[in-house]
Amino acid sequence: MGIENRVALITGSASGMGKQTARLMAENGAKVVINDIQADKVAETVEAFKKDGFDVIGQVANIADKAAVEAMVENCVKAFGRLDILVNNAGMERAGALRKLSEADWDLTIDVNLKGAFLCSQAAHNHMVPNNHGRIINIVSRAWLGGAGQAPYSSAKAGLIGLSRVLALELGGKGITSNCIAPGLIHTPLWDQLEEKSKKFLLSKQPTGSLGTIDDIAEAAMFLADDESSYFTGQVLYVCGGRSLFSG
Ligand SMILES: NC(=O)c1ccc[n+]([C@@H]2O[C@H](COP(=O)([O-])OP(=O)(O)OC[C@H]3O[C@@H](n4cnc5c(N)ncnc54)[C@H](O)[C@@H]3O)[C@@H](O)[C@H]2O)c1
Repeated sequence: MGIENRVALITGSASGMGKQTARLMAENGAKVVINDIQADKVAETVEAFKKDGFDVIGQVANIADKAAVEAMVENCVKAFGRLDILVNNAGMERAGALRKLSEADWDLTIDVNLKGAFLCSQAAHNHMVPNNHGRIINIVSRAWLGGAGQAPYSSAKAGLIGLSRVLALELGGKGITSNCIAPGLIHTPLWDQLEEKSKKFLLSKQPTGSLGTIDDIAEAAMFLADDESSYFTGQVLYVCGGRSLFSG
Protein backbone atom coordinates (compact mmCIF):
# COMPACT_ATOMS: atom_id res chain seq x y z
CA MET A 1 0.00 0.00 0.00
CA GLY A 2 1.11 3.61 -0.61
CA ILE A 3 3.76 4.91 -3.00
CA GLU A 4 6.93 4.41 -0.99
CA ASN A 5 10.01 4.11 -3.26
CA ARG A 6 7.89 4.61 -6.36
CA VAL A 7 9.31 7.01 -8.94
CA ALA A 8 6.97 9.83 -9.96
CA LEU A 9 7.36 12.28 -12.84
CA ILE A 10 5.07 15.27 -12.50
CA THR A 11 5.00 17.65 -15.46
CA GLY A 12 4.67 21.38 -14.86
CA SER A 13 5.57 20.80 -11.24
CA ALA A 14 7.57 23.95 -10.55
CA SER A 15 4.31 25.71 -9.69
CA GLY A 16 0.77 25.33 -8.39
CA MET A 17 -0.95 21.99 -8.02
CA GLY A 18 1.85 20.07 -9.75
CA LYS A 19 4.35 21.30 -7.19
CA GLN A 20 2.03 20.45 -4.31
CA THR A 21 1.41 17.00 -5.78
CA ALA A 22 5.16 16.41 -6.08
CA ARG A 23 5.64 17.54 -2.48
CA LEU A 24 2.90 15.24 -1.13
CA MET A 25 4.27 12.30 -3.12
CA ALA A 26 7.79 12.99 -1.81
CA GLU A 27 6.45 13.23 1.75
CA ASN A 28 4.95 9.79 1.20
CA GLY A 29 8.31 8.30 0.23
CA ALA A 30 8.30 8.58 -3.56
CA LYS A 31 11.32 9.72 -5.55
CA VAL A 32 10.13 12.68 -7.58
CA VAL A 33 11.06 14.31 -10.86
CA ILE A 34 10.23 18.00 -11.17
CA ASN A 35 9.60 18.97 -14.79
CA ASP A 36 8.82 22.42 -16.09
CA ILE A 37 9.63 24.67 -19.01
CA GLN A 38 10.75 27.40 -16.57
CA ALA A 39 14.37 26.56 -15.69
CA ASP A 40 14.71 29.00 -12.77
CA LYS A 41 11.60 27.65 -11.08
CA VAL A 42 12.76 24.04 -11.54
CA ALA A 43 16.08 24.88 -9.87
CA GLU A 44 14.29 26.68 -7.01
CA THR A 45 11.87 23.78 -6.44
CA VAL A 46 14.59 21.11 -6.54
CA GLU A 47 16.69 23.07 -4.05
CA ALA A 48 13.74 23.50 -1.66
CA PHE A 49 12.81 19.78 -1.92
CA LYS A 50 16.43 18.72 -1.29
CA LYS A 51 16.54 20.94 1.79
CA ASP A 52 13.50 19.05 3.06
CA GLY A 53 15.37 15.77 2.56
CA PHE A 54 13.42 14.54 -0.46
CA ASP A 55 14.85 12.35 -3.22
CA VAL A 56 14.38 14.63 -6.23
CA ILE A 57 15.80 15.59 -9.62
CA GLY A 58 14.81 18.39 -11.99
CA GLN A 59 14.18 18.16 -15.71
CA VAL A 60 13.71 21.30 -17.77
CA ALA A 61 11.78 20.27 -20.87
CA ASN A 62 8.97 21.45 -23.11
CA ILE A 63 6.46 18.59 -22.99
CA ALA A 64 5.21 19.44 -26.47
CA ASP A 65 8.65 18.55 -27.90
CA LYS A 66 9.02 14.80 -28.59
CA ALA A 67 12.83 14.70 -28.42
CA ALA A 68 12.85 16.69 -25.17
CA VAL A 69 10.24 14.37 -23.62
CA GLU A 70 12.13 11.23 -24.63
CA ALA A 71 15.37 12.62 -23.16
CA MET A 72 13.55 13.60 -19.95
CA VAL A 73 12.08 10.14 -19.46
CA GLU A 74 15.44 8.48 -20.16
CA ASN A 75 17.05 10.78 -17.57
CA CYS A 76 14.42 9.81 -14.96
CA VAL A 77 15.14 6.14 -15.50
CA LYS A 78 18.91 6.72 -15.47
CA ALA A 79 18.62 8.57 -12.16
CA PHE A 80 16.14 6.32 -10.33
CA GLY A 81 16.17 3.03 -12.27
CA ARG A 82 12.45 3.00 -13.06
CA LEU A 83 9.33 5.10 -13.64
CA ASP A 84 6.07 4.21 -11.90
CA ILE A 85 3.87 7.28 -11.80
CA LEU A 86 3.30 9.92 -14.48
CA VAL A 87 1.22 12.97 -13.66
CA ASN A 88 0.37 14.88 -16.85
CA ASN A 89 -0.19 18.17 -15.08
CA ALA A 90 1.50 20.86 -17.20
CA GLY A 91 -1.09 23.08 -18.78
CA MET A 92 -1.91 26.59 -19.93
CA GLU A 93 -4.78 28.43 -21.55
CA ARG A 94 -5.28 30.95 -24.35
CA ALA A 95 -8.87 32.12 -23.89
CA GLY A 96 -11.22 34.36 -25.84
CA ALA A 97 -14.36 34.44 -27.94
CA LEU A 98 -14.23 32.27 -31.07
CA ARG A 99 -13.87 35.28 -33.41
CA LYS A 100 -10.89 36.57 -31.43
CA LEU A 101 -8.84 33.40 -31.18
CA SER A 102 -5.85 32.96 -33.47
CA GLU A 103 -4.58 29.75 -35.00
CA ALA A 104 -1.51 30.14 -32.76
CA ASP A 105 -3.76 30.26 -29.65
CA TRP A 106 -5.39 27.01 -30.72
CA ASP A 107 -2.13 25.25 -31.63
CA LEU A 108 -0.29 26.18 -28.44
CA THR A 109 -3.16 25.21 -26.14
CA ILE A 110 -3.66 21.86 -27.87
CA ASP A 111 0.10 21.19 -28.07
CA VAL A 112 0.74 21.70 -24.36
CA ASN A 113 -2.44 20.27 -22.82
CA LEU A 114 -3.07 17.38 -25.20
CA LYS A 115 -0.06 16.53 -27.36
CA GLY A 116 2.25 16.96 -24.36
CA ALA A 117 0.31 14.37 -22.37
CA PHE A 118 0.37 12.00 -25.35
CA LEU A 119 4.14 12.31 -25.77
CA CYS A 120 4.83 11.87 -22.04
CA SER A 121 2.49 8.87 -21.76
CA GLN A 122 4.04 7.24 -24.83
CA ALA A 123 7.59 7.65 -23.53
CA ALA A 124 6.73 6.72 -19.92
CA HIS A 125 4.64 3.61 -20.60
CA ASN A 126 7.66 1.88 -22.19
CA HIS A 127 9.20 1.79 -18.70
CA MET A 128 5.98 0.73 -16.94
CA VAL A 129 5.07 -2.26 -19.11
CA PRO A 130 8.13 -4.39 -18.15
CA ASN A 131 7.31 -3.85 -14.43
CA ASN A 132 3.63 -4.71 -14.96
CA HIS A 133 2.82 -1.61 -12.94
CA GLY A 134 2.09 2.02 -13.69
CA ARG A 135 -0.11 4.97 -12.83
CA ILE A 136 -0.94 7.65 -15.39
CA ILE A 137 -2.82 10.61 -13.94
CA ASN A 138 -4.07 13.32 -16.26
CA ILE A 139 -5.01 16.72 -14.92
CA VAL A 140 -7.92 17.92 -17.02
CA SER A 141 -10.51 20.50 -15.96
CA ARG A 142 -14.20 20.78 -15.21
CA ALA A 143 -14.07 23.15 -18.21
CA TRP A 144 -13.97 20.14 -20.53
CA LEU A 145 -17.76 20.15 -20.11
CA GLY A 146 -17.70 23.46 -21.98
CA GLY A 147 -16.89 27.01 -21.04
CA ALA A 148 -17.74 30.10 -23.11
CA GLY A 149 -14.48 31.65 -24.34
CA GLN A 150 -12.56 28.45 -23.76
CA ALA A 151 -12.64 26.75 -27.17
CA PRO A 152 -9.01 25.55 -27.31
CA TYR A 153 -8.74 24.72 -23.61
CA SER A 154 -12.07 22.87 -23.31
CA SER A 155 -11.26 20.97 -26.51
CA ALA A 156 -7.77 20.03 -25.31
CA LYS A 157 -9.03 18.81 -21.94
CA ALA A 158 -11.90 16.87 -23.58
CA GLY A 159 -9.32 15.29 -25.88
CA LEU A 160 -7.17 14.39 -22.90
CA ILE A 161 -10.10 12.54 -21.32
CA GLY A 162 -10.44 10.61 -24.57
CA LEU A 163 -6.73 9.78 -24.54
CA SER A 164 -6.91 8.71 -20.90
CA ARG A 165 -9.78 6.31 -21.62
CA VAL A 166 -7.87 4.78 -24.55
CA LEU A 167 -4.80 4.27 -22.36
CA ALA A 168 -6.97 2.57 -19.73
CA LEU A 169 -8.18 0.14 -22.39
CA GLU A 170 -4.79 -0.46 -24.02
CA LEU A 171 -2.73 -0.73 -20.85
CA GLY A 172 -5.21 -2.22 -18.37
CA GLY A 173 -3.82 -5.73 -18.87
CA LYS A 174 -0.30 -4.52 -18.10
CA GLY A 175 -1.00 -3.32 -14.57
CA ILE A 176 -1.16 0.31 -15.69
CA THR A 177 -4.10 2.51 -14.77
CA SER A 178 -5.01 5.78 -16.48
CA ASN A 179 -7.34 8.29 -14.87
CA CYS A 180 -8.20 11.98 -14.95
CA ILE A 181 -8.63 14.54 -12.22
CA ALA A 182 -10.93 17.41 -13.17
CA PRO A 183 -10.29 20.38 -10.91
CA GLY A 184 -12.85 23.16 -10.70
CA LEU A 185 -12.26 26.53 -9.07
CA ILE A 186 -8.96 26.22 -7.22
CA HIS A 187 -7.24 28.86 -5.12
CA THR A 188 -4.13 29.83 -7.13
CA PRO A 189 -2.40 33.22 -7.64
CA LEU A 190 -4.69 33.79 -10.64
CA TRP A 191 -7.69 33.85 -8.29
CA ASP A 192 -6.13 36.57 -6.13
CA GLN A 193 -5.77 38.80 -9.19
CA LEU A 194 -9.51 38.71 -10.00
CA GLU A 195 -11.81 41.62 -9.20
CA GLU A 196 -14.12 41.17 -6.20
CA LYS A 197 -17.15 41.24 -8.54
CA SER A 198 -15.81 38.30 -10.57
CA LYS A 199 -14.91 36.33 -7.45
CA LYS A 200 -18.44 36.79 -6.09
CA PHE A 201 -20.00 35.68 -9.37
CA LEU A 202 -17.82 32.57 -9.65
CA LEU A 203 -18.41 31.56 -6.04
CA SER A 204 -22.17 31.99 -6.50
CA LYS A 205 -22.01 29.13 -9.04
CA GLN A 206 -20.29 26.77 -6.62
CA PRO A 207 -22.65 24.30 -4.87
CA THR A 208 -20.24 24.36 -1.92
CA GLY A 209 -19.88 28.14 -2.17
CA SER A 210 -16.15 27.67 -1.76
CA LEU A 211 -12.82 27.42 -3.54
CA GLY A 212 -10.73 24.28 -3.69
CA THR A 213 -7.07 24.20 -2.73
CA ILE A 214 -3.97 22.76 -4.34
CA ASP A 215 -3.96 20.23 -1.48
CA ASP A 216 -7.35 18.92 -2.65
CA ILE A 217 -5.79 18.09 -6.02
CA ALA A 218 -2.62 16.61 -4.53
CA GLU A 219 -4.72 14.32 -2.28
CA ALA A 220 -6.75 13.12 -5.27
CA ALA A 221 -3.54 12.39 -7.18
CA MET A 222 -2.21 10.45 -4.19
CA PHE A 223 -5.30 8.25 -4.19
CA LEU A 224 -4.91 7.46 -7.90
CA ALA A 225 -1.15 6.87 -7.56
CA ASP A 226 -1.48 4.43 -4.68
CA ASP A 227 -0.50 0.79 -5.26
CA GLU A 228 -3.92 -0.15 -3.88
CA SER A 229 -5.86 1.84 -6.52
CA SER A 230 -5.39 -0.83 -9.17
CA TYR A 231 -9.09 -1.36 -9.95
CA PHE A 232 -9.78 2.33 -10.59
CA THR A 233 -9.09 3.10 -14.24
CA GLY A 234 -10.52 5.05 -17.18
CA GLN A 235 -12.34 7.40 -14.82
CA VAL A 236 -12.69 11.14 -14.30
CA LEU A 237 -12.48 12.23 -10.68
CA TYR A 238 -14.07 15.66 -10.25
CA VAL A 239 -12.57 17.84 -7.54
CA CYS A 240 -14.72 20.90 -8.11
CA GLY A 241 -17.06 21.51 -5.19
CA GLY A 242 -19.96 20.03 -7.18
CA ARG A 243 -19.66 22.54 -10.05
CA SER A 244 -19.68 19.72 -12.64
CA LEU A 245 -23.30 18.94 -11.71
CA PHE A 246 -24.57 21.65 -14.04
CA SER A 247 -23.26 23.30 -17.21
CA GLY A 248 -22.77 26.91 -18.29
N1 LIG B 1 -5.83 26.52 -11.41
C1 LIG B 1 -7.06 26.06 -11.62
O1 LIG B 1 -8.03 26.56 -11.05
C2 LIG B 1 -7.25 24.89 -12.56
C3 LIG B 1 -8.53 24.41 -12.78
C4 LIG B 1 -8.72 23.33 -13.62
C5 LIG B 1 -7.64 22.71 -14.22
N2 LIG B 1 -6.38 23.18 -14.00
C6 LIG B 1 -5.27 22.45 -14.64
O2 LIG B 1 -4.37 22.05 -13.63
C7 LIG B 1 -3.03 22.00 -14.13
C8 LIG B 1 -2.12 22.82 -13.23
O3 LIG B 1 -2.63 24.12 -13.10
P1 LIG B 1 -2.01 25.23 -12.11
O4 LIG B 1 -3.08 26.19 -11.82
O5 LIG B 1 -1.29 24.56 -11.01
O6 LIG B 1 -1.02 25.94 -13.15
P2 LIG B 1 0.38 26.70 -12.97
O7 LIG B 1 0.42 27.71 -14.07
O8 LIG B 1 0.60 27.15 -11.57
O9 LIG B 1 1.41 25.51 -13.31
C9 LIG B 1 1.52 24.94 -14.58
C10 LIG B 1 2.98 24.76 -14.89
O10 LIG B 1 3.09 24.14 -16.18
C11 LIG B 1 4.24 24.66 -16.80
N3 LIG B 1 4.20 24.51 -18.23
C12 LIG B 1 3.44 25.19 -19.12
N4 LIG B 1 3.72 24.77 -20.37
C13 LIG B 1 4.66 23.81 -20.27
C14 LIG B 1 5.34 23.01 -21.21
N5 LIG B 1 5.12 23.14 -22.54
N6 LIG B 1 6.23 22.09 -20.76
C15 LIG B 1 6.48 21.96 -19.43
N7 LIG B 1 5.86 22.71 -18.50
C16 LIG B 1 4.97 23.62 -18.91
C17 LIG B 1 4.25 26.13 -16.40
O11 LIG B 1 5.52 26.72 -16.55
C18 LIG B 1 3.78 26.07 -14.96
O12 LIG B 1 4.86 26.06 -14.04
C19 LIG B 1 -3.11 22.51 -15.57
O13 LIG B 1 -3.17 21.42 -16.45
C20 LIG B 1 -4.42 23.28 -15.60
O14 LIG B 1 -4.98 23.32 -16.89
C21 LIG B 1 -6.16 24.26 -13.19
